[in-house]
Parts: sequence; C-alpha cells; structure tokens
Amino acid sequence: MTELERKQERAPVPSAWTYAPAPEARDIVTLREQYGHFVGGEWLEPKETYTTISPATEEPLAEVGQATPEEVAAAVDAARAAYDNGWSEIAPSERAKYLFRIARILQERSREFAVLESLNGGKPIKESRDVDLPLSAAHFFYYAGWADKLEYAFPNQRPRPLGVAGQIIPWNFPLLMLAWKIAPALAAGNTVVLKPAETTPLSALLFCDVLRQAELPPGVVNIVTGDGRTGAEIVKSGGVDKVAFTGSTDVGKAIQRELAGSGKKLTLELGGKAANIIFDDAALDQAVEGIINGIYFNQGHVCCAGSRLLVQESIYEPVVDKLKRRLTTLRVGDPLDKNTDVGAINSKQQLEKIQQLVASGAEEGAEIYQPPCRLPEKGYWFAPTVFTNVAQSYRIAQEEIFGPVLSILTFRTPEEAVEKANNTPYGLSAGVWTEKGSRILWMAERLRAGVVWANTYNRFDPSSPFGGYKESGFGREGGRHGLEPYLRLT
Ligand code: NAI
Ligand code: MG
Repeated sequence: MTELERKQERAPVPSAWTYAPAPEARDIVTLREQYGHFVGGEWLEPKETYTTISPATEEPLAEVGQATPEEVAAAVDAARAAYDNGWSEIAPSERAKYLFRIARILQERSREFAVLESLNGGKPIKESRDVDLPLSAAHFFYYAGWADKLEYAFPNQRPRPLGVAGQIIPWNFPLLMLAWKIAPALAAGNTVVLKPAETTPLSALLFCDVLRQAELPPGVVNIVTGDGRTGAEIVKSGGVDKVAFTGSTDVGKAIQRELAGSGKKLTLELGGKAANIIFDDAALDQAVEGIINGIYFNQGHVCCAGSRLLVQESIYEPVVDKLKRRLTTLRVGDPLDKNTDVGAINSKQQLEKIQQLVASGAEEGAEIYQPPCRLPEKGYWFAPTVFTNVAQSYRIAQEEIFGPVLSILTFRTPEEAVEKANNTPYGLSAGVWTEKGSRILWMAERLRAGVVWANTYNRFDPSSPFGGYKESGFGREGGRHGLEPYLRLT
C-alpha cells in the first residue's frame, strides 16, 4: 500500500458529505400571467385556457391557451397569407438572414431560455444550458447556411417549398424540437403553424419574442398551444400542406391514418427502445459513463435513450458492479440546481406510466436496484433504476418506458447481440462499445436503427440526420436530409 492509499483509507469520504445548493437564479425569466396564441405576428386572446406548472414543485407558472378549431384555423390562414404574400418569393439569402438572426438572439438569450426550460419541463439546468440551448441555436445556424444553397443540396432538381407546415412537438426537448422543426421549414421557404406539448408551452411562447426581435415577417411562424385536440385540428386542417410530428407511436399511427390519401406530406419521429451493446473488449469505465448518459440523461425522457443494456456475458458482473456504484453518485433533485444530474419527471401522467411499467418488471420477475436517494416531497420524481434478470419477453424489455429505468440483458456472440438488439418493433438508435473498429462497422451494418453510436451515446449535431426505422417513424431531421421533407423536388 502506498502512503497515499494509506491516507485515503484512514480518511474516507464521510457518508453524510453533501454538496451545498447551487441554484441558478430564476429572476432572469419574466413570466406573464396569461399567454395567448401567436398568430400573424400578434397575440390572440385565447378563448379557453389551462394552467401550466413546474413539475418539480407543482407550482402554477402561467395560464396558456387551449386552442379551439377556430383559433387553429386563424393560425393556418395567417401562415397561408404570409406564404402567398412574399415569404415563398423573397430572395433565399434574405430567408437565411432571418434564420441567422434567430440563432444569434437565441445565443444572446440562452440563459433566460435555459432557466425557463428547466422551470417548465423539470430537466436539470446543466442540460438545458449545455445541450438544449447550444443545439437549438446550432440548428438555426446550420439551416441558415442551406437557405440560399438548396439547388446545391439537390443538384439537377428544382427544389420548391410546399406551403404551410403543421408541426407538433413533444415535451422532452421543447425548444430543441421547435428548432428541429422550424429551422428546415423556413430555410426551404415554407411557413409554419407549430404546437408545443401541453406540459411545456413556455419556451415556444418566449420564442415568439425572438421572432419579433428578428423582425420575421408576421405569419411566417405561428404558435398555438393546447393538448392533443389542438394537434388533431392542425393535422386535419385543409390549409396545411405538410405535417411533421414527434411523439408517441400511437398518435403517430393515428395521424398517418388521418392523412392517408390526402396528398399531404408527413414525417413521423416516434418512440424507441434502443440497445446499448457492451462488448468485453470495451473500455469499461467509459462504457459505464455512456450507459449512464444513455439512460439517465433528461430523466430518460429521450426517444433514442439506451434503455436496453446488452452486456457480453463475460463482463456482466464488473459492468453491473461499476454501474451500481456510479448510480449512487447521481444527484437527483432541484432542476435549477447546477449540481443536479437527474431532475423531475415531466408530468404526473408520465410518472404514472413509469411506475406502472416498473411494477410490471418486478412482477414479471426482474430484480430491481435503486440507489439510496431522498426524493423531494412535492413534484414528480422517480429514482434512477436498474433492472437485472430481465427476459426478452418482459414488458420492461419491450415497451418504451421513457423514464430513468434501465433493463439489463446479456449476450454471448456478436450475432446474438444483433439479433437481440433488433428484436423490437422500434428502430431509432443503438450504441456499440468495443475496441475493434471492424466490429463497430460489422455491427452498424446489421443494426436496424437510424443512428448507431460507437463508443459514445446521445451525441447530436445539426449536420447529422436523425430518424427511425419501423415503428420509430420515417423521415429524417438534421442534415441535408432534413430539408427534403419540406421541399417539392421537380
Ligand atoms: P403524445 O404523442 O400524446 O404527445 C406528443 C405531442 O402530440 C403533444 O404535443 C400532444 O399534444 C400531441 N398530440 C396528442 N394527441 C394528438 C393527436 N391525436 N393528434 C395530434 N397531436 C396530438 O405523447 P404523450 O402522451 O405526451 O407521451 C406518451 C408516450 O409517448 C411517452 O411515455 C413516450 O413513451 C412517448 N413519447 C415519445 C416521444 C419521442 O420523442 N419520440 C416524445 C413524447 C412522448
Ligand atoms: Mg398522449
């Protein structure tokens, strides 16, 4: 034993040792008491409203509109008028200018947006600050660059806009999903009606302020708020030429049925049940970090989360040991605290879904592990959870939990890993951890997933297309591919 090791043994970290609170100041955000719908560049007084809350405290934050069919129709009309009265005809370099402006303003106001995103959605401030905001701005920068280069993106074709895009987004990355939808639509010359999810409307409403600051022509982007009923109105609307949806597979299927035969273009980004595959030659400590990032990032509210861990049998024990140890260091709590790793569950409804699936896992015979952690009394919380002894047939190995819950399975050979990884109705993403480049390529060729990460997980870049196979949907967002759903190519 070295001198240092002896010292460390004498003075272990006290078990009660804890971080001091490090809360991000909330006063950079000014909330209004009530928000309307942003239509034709103006705030429309809402006919019906509901209360949006903070999922970490259940504290009411603001009243927001539940858009009626008439209000949705007004937004679609405004988008159509803006399309016809100039937006589709202005010089593409002008469109680029607006997108660059939006990107710059998002950067300038990023702390404000980050705090609001964590307040309304429950995600840790370090994630909204370091992931959601930089990536949102990056998407606008990236598509600003394409706006006047469409003929180079699609050589020998004539790219033209479609018209009005109806866009419906979920609550897990509210502003980032808005950016993924709006940036390519505008770059391609379309106008937009967008609906944020009912639990997280506030960052989209603050974004209307950015649109005004950027002097985007009125009606080019319209934001209506409300729940699924409002979404369904957008989908049905005869004035919409294209629908883009991110959310549950059930709603995606319903939208596809509704649009069948209508001639409207459709892209769907739906659920996932990704395999994160660890081979015995992987760098284990890095792999454990990748497992943690893969499933506990954003409370596991991630469509591409690595929710099924496939570990090669020979390293099962060290991986599970290291993982459990690492789990005890995760800090669960106040989303606005800069030291928080795992924040609040987005809604009561989502918490109940997680609880139900976790209960089914225990009933079916899996073994549950949760690190000791004290959860706040108010709000919606779920401790980081690992299931071992999981059979392929269990619901926790089949269904999307969309929470901080990992199911661990094992495999012996690469062939078996591929077979198990692909044994799901989904196909959005996968992770492979191995030292061998050849094995990475061999695996990537065989995994039926839109994205395959190698020796990393949950990496995003606006230039890299993202999207699914099978029940994870169709169409790509990001990259040159992300322009295509918003263009007519002749
Ligand atoms: P959801 O699919 O109901 O909600 C997503 C968006 O669709 C929201 O804006 C919602 O208002 C809207 N919507 C709901 N019903 C609609 C309809 N009939 N027509 C048009 N728009 C409609 O998802 P929910 O209920 O919030 O979550 C349920 C499960 O879905 C989650 O537990 C998770 O498994 C999955 N999900 C997957 C997401 C992803 O990123 N792929 C995002 C959100 C949820
Ligand atoms: Mg739903």
